Amino acid sequence: MKIADTGSALREILKNAPAPRVLVPTMGAFHPGHLSLMQRARKIAGPGGTVVVSIFVNPIQFDRAADLDAYPRPMASDLAACETAGVDVVFAPTAESMYFPDRSVTVTETLLSRSLCGAARPGHFDGVCTVVLKLFLLTGCESAVFGEKDFQQLAVIRRMVRDLDVPVEIIPCPTLREADGLAMSSRNTRLIPEQRADAPRIRRALLAAATLGAPTEILAAARAAIETSPLARIDYLTIVDAETLQPVTELLRPAILATAVFYGEVRLIDHAMIAIG
Ligand code: PAF
Repeated sequence: MKIADTGSALREILKNAPAPRVLVPTMGAFHPGHLSLMQRARKIAGPGGTVVVSIFVNPIQFDRAADLDAYPRPMASDLAACETAGVDVVFAPTAESMYFPDRSVTVTETLLSRSLCGAARPGHFDGVCTVVLKLFLLTGCESAVFGEKDFQQLAVIRRMVRDLDVPVEIIPCPTLREADGLAMSSRNTRLIPEQRADAPRIRRALLAAATLGAPTEILAAARAAIETSPLARIDYLTIVDAETLQPVTELLRPAILATAVFYGEVRLIDHAMIAIG
């Protein structure tokens, strides 16, 4: 396994790397969900292709300095996990090597990114789109694998690829969950035991509420089930159209019940599909 810490080192390593090149963009702190993305990438690349994993805690997608500082960075164990997963190349750049101090170009999506996490975290998806496009360009990958847990991120990146004619196929991978239903996330390690024990209520609340009738009923039931906990604070709880991600007040098309919930400083997201008819 080769490791690059700058864009030019990566380009040098990938100069003669066999196609297909499959990228798994990550911020590290791996859990089994990440490993499933790497396995998927390995399968697509086949034994002869090249799997590239980027590990970069992208500062420009964080809206709170405390969140950026607290983001776990277990680089040694992440590299060992990549080696075990059969990754060919790891790209782990510093922020200084990724961004010029006077950088002035940002990729902005103006519709799908404005609701949900985009409304709660202004600028977040500009940071995501900008770094993901840079990673696509630096790796020259033909495809890239993303988790469905961050369904808004997946939708925004698909839109960026569509609108900018980026020649990269986006491959979605299902969300992995703990035995108690909590969606796997690098942030889960920052929960104290009481918060970790309480957090599966998010999934239970969403699943139970998503089967109820009207949006107002669904939202009220989910809110009540989450707010019963003194540990949980809702950042947003909303129903959006599954395609446009715009808030809906009537269920005429497939929709998504989505939430972000704070446990202390740790912000967890999850969602459930609302089937129509
Ligand atoms: O999902 C993530 O870990 C990040 O948002 C990504 C796609 C690696 C961009 O920094």
